[in-house]
Amino acid sequence: MRFQGRVVIVTGAARGIGAVTAEAFAREGGRVAVLDLDGPGADAAAKRLRESGAEAVGFRADAAASAEVRAVVEAVVGQWGRIDVLVNNAGGFATMRATEDITDEEWDSILRSNLTSAFVCSRAVLPLMKRQRSGRIVNLASVVARGGAVRVTSHYAAAKAGVVGFTRHLALEVGPDGITVNAVAPGTTMTERVKALRTPEQTREVAQTIPARRLGEPIEIAEAILFLASDAASFVNGATLDVNGGQVMA
Ligand SMILES: NC(=O)c1ccc[n+]([C@@H]2O[C@H](COP(=O)([O-])OP(=O)(O)OC[C@H]3O[C@@H](n4cnc5c(N)ncnc54)[C@H](O)[C@@H]3O)[C@@H](O)[C@H]2O)c1
Repeated sequence: MRFQGRVVIVTGAARGIGAVTAEAFAREGGRVAVLDLDGPGADAAAKRLRESGAEAVGFRADAAASAEVRAVVEAVVGQWGRIDVLVNNAGGFATMRATEDITDEEWDSILRSNLTSAFVCSRAVLPLMKRQRSGRIVNLASVVARGGAVRVTSHYAAAKAGVVGFTRHLALEVGPDGITVNAVAPGTTMTERVKALRTPEQTREVAQTIPARRLGEPIEIAEAILFLASDAASFVNGATLDVNGGQVMA
């Protein structure tokens, strides 16, 4: 039980990688706050964790909205007294787009959900983590920010490159306070959202470019997140861990 009694916030945890990560922390004894734009989804995910015997609470919040995130952090601290781990997982993109077709609103929205969210949530927990003199922040980057010639969208690629830069700088800044900040860069991972982006044929084509000859499973990304949040990673700071079956070897 690597996370017995530890307080963990996972953003974007109503489904996909975030939900599987929340379950993995709960299995290891963590007390888990499930934050998502989808309130009923967050509540349902937290309920599933409680039914499995864990302590968990669901929150509807936009991870990029400062006031909403502050309210979640206050509620979590009110309930459990501390925050040990923040996983900035909220994000993704829903539609393939050529760059000339991206509207200003879409650009802002993708930057906001994938990059601004990591800043807003980190800023909200840092004062407490500094007082604790301990804390773990794990951000979700992507293979596209690691040199992967994987066709996504340019706003998403820009946002995830920003996540890698943000991770390094924040690690440098708060390392002296006993806090580590790292990222996981998943390759294409079979969540419902990603399955909907490509035809089965296109998915098979992507798999052929990967030495593992398959796409990743959410639990394989969750395991890397848990490692970076665990005591075993105490001297890992500012790293981006590639979890992509060998698709990109950065
Ligand atoms: N699945 C992949 O292939 C893959 C690859 C590389 C990186 N990633 C990254 O991993 C993370 C999870 O991806 P996924 O495939 O599980 O996505 P997903 O769409 O299955 O789940 C994302 C969740 O985040 C929530 N969310 C989105 N914006 C939010 C916001 N502003 N505030 C709160 N919640 C918000 C959504 O409601 C959803 O429940 C994302 O950051 C994604 O970019 C995924």
